[in-house]
Amino acid sequence: MLIKILYILLTYLCGSIPFAYIVAKANGKVDIRTVGSGNSGATNVFREIGKGAGAITLTADVLKGFIPVYFATFIDNSFIYSVAVAAAIMSGHMFTIFLKFKGGKGVATGLGVFSAIMPLPSLIALSIFGLVFVLSRYVSLGSICAVISLPLTSYFLGYGTKPVIFTSAAAVLIIYRHRTNIKRLIERSENKLRIFKKK
Ligand code: G3P
Repeated sequence: MLIKILYILLTYLCGSIPFAYIVAKANGKVDIRTVGSGNSGATNVFREIGKGAGAITLTADVLKGFIPVYFATFIDNSFIYSVAVAAAIMSGHMFTIFLKFKGGKGVATGLGVFSAIMPLPSLIALSIFGLVFVLSRYVSLGSICAVISLPLTSYFLGYGTKPVIFTSAAAVLIIYRHRTNIKRLIERSENKLRIFKKK
């Protein structure tokens, strides 16, 4: 039991590592929270620092979600324990202890977490994200559509009640974290991300 609790605390700290902040400081010598959307996430790093820095942040944020949840199964292979670890990582990412509890919006780390727990709904969500992003160039819109798809695909693929509740709760939290993006989308002033445009 003690190991289980310690592992959850450790994963909160792991989730708290603010890769966007670190990569932006290392590459552009800027505080990512003071530029662009102000979000300490991979999208803002892509937009404000560059493609390489954005790709590193994205990869690091996805892995920091995936790896701890994957290894949690060696301690306790139950769905509930995986969810507890996932919640700790997501909390760490969104409310990081290293940046006065102001973190990212949870999309990249969520992708890692969900991929470890439910690969097929995650793959579908990633495809939906890709489609919406390619059509609109809005990462936020793609992210919102992707997280909405998770409880729906979990339900229709017959995953059962617990995964549907888990993905619904995560979707509500991630959408809430996108409230300023939603406002900008409605006002048609949301930032687009053009990966192939020279900065
Ligand atoms: O992952 C966050 C993304 O959906 C939006 O980021 O920087 O456009 O607010 P940003």
